[in-house]
Amino acid sequence: MFSNGHIISIRELSKREIDFVLSRAEEMEPYARGTKCGSDLLAGKILANLFYEPSTRTRLSFETAMKRLGGEVINMHSPEASSVAKGENLADTIRTVSSYCDVIALRHPKEGAARMAASFSTVPIINAGDGAGQHPTQTLLDLYTIKREGLLDNLRIALIGDLKYGRTVHSLAYALALYKAILYLVSPPTLRMPEEIKSDLEDAGAEIFEYEDVGEVIRDVNILYVTRIQRERFPDPTEYTRVAGVYRITPELIAENEDVVVMHPLPRVDEIDTRVDSTRNARYFLQAFYGVPVRMAILSILLGAK
Ligand code: NCD
Repeated sequence: MFSNGHIISIRELSKREIDFVLSRAEEMEPYARGTKCGSDLLAGKILANLFYEPSTRTRLSFETAMKRLGGEVINMHSPEASSVAKGENLADTIRTVSSYCDVIALRHPKEGAARMAASFSTVPIINAGDGAGQHPTQTLLDLYTIKREGLLDNLRIALIGDLKYGRTVHSLAYALALYKAILYLVSPPTLRMPEEIKSDLEDAGAEIFEYEDVGEVIRDVNILYVTRIQRERFPDPTEYTRVAGVYRITPELIAENEDVVVMHPLPRVDEIDTRVDSTRNARYFLQAFYGVPVRMAILSILLGAK
């Protein structure tokens, strides 16, 4: 399981491994909800959360997952409050922190940081987001959400928004290719899915279509996966202002396909109208909850707990 002992890119997981995580997550759900208590599966184990970028859901759901299984957590909340501010490099931080814990969840603004960290770590590294690169644990919880909707096979999904810089959609698209999903990529021309990823997806046998307008695909898909324009990754702020607010999912749009499921990795800025929250289509807060059972599954598998 997880051949190299780390979770760096979703591309390194086979479909069989992904399915195993999803079924383990299902077993974890009652513990994640707190309806079953007292698991000591990870008692005595320590997770270090090393976050060099802001996070709410990823960091807190990793922490909850560990604690629900009886484990402990140590946290580096921000680089400003740690020796990173004194100029320490990532390699030295990883060498040190890996001697304090059993597993590290790392979020970093540089693409490739997690892979680099893995080469210095004595414990498993979980990539909790590396720049515009990958976010494999988000993908696993996205897939879990889709599976719980009964849509994992024969999926027609629109990935909407910032497909250039959005790491969640990069990871998710690779995984969906394994499930032979039909991908409707909806973005402004400047934020299209990178060519390299598209050609990898096509090589994997995925069917891909590109659009600029959600209205063109709403009736053809069973899921809208909406993303935030990744302002912090734009080299030029005026480029951001040109595309900010281009998409807005509204109840009026959703009325055109009353069964469509609306997902979003969150945080949302303005791309989903808050009136959508109370519709039967919204799943993004449930999706955020699923981060707990899925990360419980990941941690228990990585740490070898049965
Ligand atoms: C995402 C991320 O950090 O990539 N957030 C998350 O982990 N749920 C999405 C985003 O920041 O837009």
